[in-house]
Amino acid sequence: MPRLFLAVPLPNQIKTRLASKIGGLQKSLSNWNINWVAPENLHITLVFFGWVKAEQVEDLKAEVSAAVSGFSPFEVTAGKLSLKGRPLWLEIGPGRDKLQTIAENLFKKLTLKGSLEEERGFHPHLTLGRVKKRGRTKLPAVPETFSWKANRIVLYESRFVHKQRIYEEVWSIGRPKKRPSNPPN
Ligand code: 2AM
Repeated sequence: MPRLFLAVPLPNQIKTRLASKIGGLQKSLSNWNINWVAPENLHITLVFFGWVKAEQVEDLKAEVSAAVSGFSPFEVTAGKLSLKGRPLWLEIGPGRDKLQTIAENLFKKLTLKGSLEEERGFHPHLTLGRVKKRGRTKLPAVPETFSWKANRIVLYESRFVHKQRIYEEVWSIGRPKKRPSNPPN
């Protein structure tokens, strides 16, 4: 049974910039105990479904396609660092309303509701880490912003492999992935 969630992915250049930002935060918050998100796993969650029966996955994809049928690319900007309980995240500025609308539409139309909305409401964010224990240092400001064009919504499978969390793309909607320019014969 797969453990699934829907999210907006980040382009590699944004992941690279965030990886270096996270490196800086690790230094300035070295007296905190934080589980940092691996840069390749960074994303903006829309709906977390948890464990889904294998036989429900095709219906889920069809419902997601129908719920976001008018999807068109939009700009997303992540910026201000904030701590909401355990999750340490970047707030979303521009693009926030669009993410909210997509998440609400999914919630209204999907049979599987997911836990995100039920438990804590939808607040668009980009999680960088999860705090296990706070330290004495104050949370630093993150003055820069990270912007990109969100052009896909991805269904990820979350797995724990060799003690590491990996998010594997199962399916997506939106612009297809670029093919290599010289495909092998
Ligand atoms: P978060 O980043 O806000 O913590 C994959 O686990 C993604 O689904 C995470 O980014 C996480 O959001 C989100 N998620 C939401 N509810 C969850 C839950 N109950 N358990 C695990 N992940 C959850």
